[in-house]
Amino acid sequence: RNRRFLCTKTLFSILYINALVLLTQQCGLVNTFSDAGGALFLALRREMPTFVGTGGKWRWTEKNRGTGFQLPQFLPTFTLSKNNKNNNDMENRSLVTIAEHSKEKILYMLEMAKQFEERPNRHLLYGKVVATLFFEPSTRTRLSFETAANRLGARVIGFSDPKATSSSKGETLKDTIKMVSNYADIIVMRHYLEGAARYASEVTDVPIVNAGDGANQHPSQTMLDLYSIYKTQGTLENLNIFLVGDLKYGRTVHSLLMAMRHFNPTFHFIAPDELKMPEEYKIYCREHGIRYVEHTDFTEETIAEADILYMTRVQRERFTDLMEYERVKNVYILRKKMLEHTRPNLRILHPLPRVNEIAYDVDESPKAYYFQQAQNGLYAREAILCDVLGITLDDIKNEK
Ligand code: CP
Repeated sequence: RNRRFLCTKTLFSILYINALVLLTQQCGLVNTFSDAGGALFLALRREMPTFVGTGGKWRWTEKNRGTGFQLPQFLPTFTLSKNNKNNNDMENRSLVTIAEHSKEKILYMLEMAKQFEERPNRHLLYGKVVATLFFEPSTRTRLSFETAANRLGARVIGFSDPKATSSSKGETLKDTIKMVSNYADIIVMRHYLEGAARYASEVTDVPIVNAGDGANQHPSQTMLDLYSIYKTQGTLENLNIFLVGDLKYGRTVHSLLMAMRHFNPTFHFIAPDELKMPEEYKIYCREHGIRYVEHTDFTEETIAEADILYMTRVQRERFTDLMEYERVKNVYILRKKMLEHTRPNLRILHPLPRVNEIAYDVDESPKAYYFQQAQNGLYAREAILCDVLGITLDDIKNEK
């Protein structure tokens, strides 16, 4: 009976994976049949690691066959990730997911950010070129990375409109990354596909900084969120963190949740049923001993014990059914009146942009911290650019 079950599972997995491979080709991530075959192999290994592959050491690279390919993570795959990268090794210092950072590393990066807040202009990246490749719209992430690069003395190349690049003529992501690797020392990339940053980091030796990949991860946002939490609360430990809004598609909350595993938080997930925290992340919480409570009501009483109230926008661009978006888009609106009985140390964060989820009267409250939070992005991103090039805290402190 077990054999029959396994055969059925295999058959369904193959059908599922084939659909993913076709979709992958449509999205322009691969351009040859052998790449698609590589994708299929990797996908099977991911689905059934016991039966396929060699425990995570195997990679589909130029050496193995044809052109390289790493399966896009259409679903969050942190529990299945085989990339046990050591962040201190100099081989590839890409920042793909915050899950790869230890507690010590996070605290170290926050100390670096603090140095940059004290003095943002330092010529630590003089002579370097930073490429910002934005396949999705952005204001804060792109501009703060570019400001960070400029303040560190680097030059910036890149694009914010993929329609004006050769990807609109059918160039694959792999080819674009390999081309830009000829010109730049760091590639900061935002892409609409989950797993695109991981894929990019597999096809180049130039460090990739994930500036958001679909609904998956946004690790540089998490660094600035952690810095903001640390600055406002004086600690990252034992906090009540309330995540509100689109917990299904909001990549910032997914990354924050994973980073906070080191700091004994209690999370409260406030979302309508349609936008609930995905099961994968709840499993992650259970596996890492993170307490969480789920709510559908967003009231004064619900948020009374919050230290951090992390509001999020409903991500219109991720919905396949726009009627569903219309139903949920204004489901929660934070108003100043709701803050009357909240904790004095409460701070309201939002990765921004906001649409309707924070009323404008909240901006007057001393508990509103989202604009300062965005400012902290500059310092956190200066730290990230330095770190991916192997520049240490001592280098920063000793810079004249
Ligand atoms: N927080 C954030 O990612 O904002 P942008 O989309 O403007 O970069």
